[in-house]
Amino acid sequence: MSPAPRDTAIPDESALTVALVGPDEQLRKAVALALSGHPSLRLQEFSTFPPNVDRLHHRLAQQNDVVIVEVEGDPERAFELAEGLCASGRTYVMAYSTRVDMRLAVRFMRAGVREFFTLPLDPAEVSAALMRASTRRATHPQEVKKTGKLFVFLGSKGGCGVTTLASNFALALAQESDSTTLLIDLGLPLGDVAINLGIVTEYSVNTALENPARLDVNLLATIVAKHSSGLSVLAASTDLSETEPPKDAIDKLLEVTRDNYDFVVVDAGSRVDLMRSALFEVSSTVYLVTQAGISELRNANRMISKFFATRKESLQIVLNRYQTNDPLFDEAQITKALTRPAQWKVPDDYASARRKRETAAPMVMGDSAISETIRLMVRTAAGLLPGKNGKKGFFSFLR
Ligand SMILES: Nc1ncnc2c1ncn2[C@@H]1O[C@H](COP(=O)(O)OP(=O)(O)O)[C@@H](O)[C@H]1O
Ligand SMILES: [Mg+2]
Repeated sequence: MSPAPRDTAIPDESALTVALVGPDEQLRKAVALALSGHPSLRLQEFSTFPPNVDRLHHRLAQQNDVVIVEVEGDPERAFELAEGLCASGRTYVMAYSTRVDMRLAVRFMRAGVREFFTLPLDPAEVSAALMRASTRRATHPQEVKKTGKLFVFLGSKGGCGVTTLASNFALALAQESDSTTLLIDLGLPLGDVAINLGIVTEYSVNTALENPARLDVNLLATIVAKHSSGLSVLAASTDLSETEPPKDAIDKLLEVTRDNYDFVVVDAGSRVDLMRSALFEVSSTVYLVTQAGISELRNANRMISKFFATRKESLQIVLNRYQTNDPLFDEAQITKALTRPAQWKVPDDYASARRKRETAAPMVMGDSAISETIRLMVRTAAGLLPGKNGKKGFFSFLR
């Protein structure tokens, strides 16, 4: 779906963003002309219907306060688009046609379309409709744009502690923030988040990755498992799948999950092959987990130089199983290898790791040196303050 050349952009943040989808150029121009009378409006015109229906519907709805759809040459495609947009509940959908056809209009209105214009347009009618759309945006601002924060845990080498830290981080985040939190195991094909948390899951993340076109809030609700803490989990498949999920499937998964959860935490294993996916887009916070070993530090150095050199706060380096007075590496050597100081040092705590393995009780459930550091990471990530306004504070665990 390519935008038509004209983009009447007004540099105004409060402007109503409008997408006009109209394959018939003459009609589209007539609607655009009627809209041009509105003082504060950012219009983008599209001369074709979106090819990948599901995904682009979602983007259109997310990026625009209003979407106006032509119902002329291909009413079925137009209906499919309008219905998808209305289902998102995020945008104010309008439609137009040259035909005076009550049944057609009623069908669109039943799907959730708010305004149905018949051409030639009445400027006063268009103006009143835009006013209603502005009012709705003002009264439902939260419906317009909401994207959950993304935290991605990536290991410089297998066994560095990605699953341990991602699972415990997600759990602490769910408990301490009172926000909806989802943990996704992408350490495919042998992710072990579910085992670490001691939960049995019916579905896996593969169900989502194999059906990206069908993935929506309903499918997501069916396939997530719940941990007793309240944390939602999308576990890895227990099958040894041989095909890699395409980038598009991962992007769709993140889009839908971020739309529906306040926090999305991903165990990405050591999957640098996913570097071009939305996992590592600039808005995500990457926790690069490494240890003070020769190959772990060497890999970390390469990864930072190659992929994350320009990231500042959104790259958080975690030195796991850290021992003060390490006979092999001193602080300065580690910092040199990492090109910057590690933000977090998680102590080596063999006893609580063993206890966790035996009981499948996540570490943050108990008090240990590891849990203390993880809770500090969570507090920083989610901006939680201790015991403010009588609300359950971050440090309630420690009291
Ligand atoms: N800080 C730590 N102290 C002690 N043991 C740890 C620590 N972090 C991880 N481990 C242990 O190291 C092993 C590998 O950790 P895991 O999280 O599965 O790594 P990864 O997911 O990176 O392969 C596990 O047995 C885990 O219990
Ligand atoms: Mg793992």
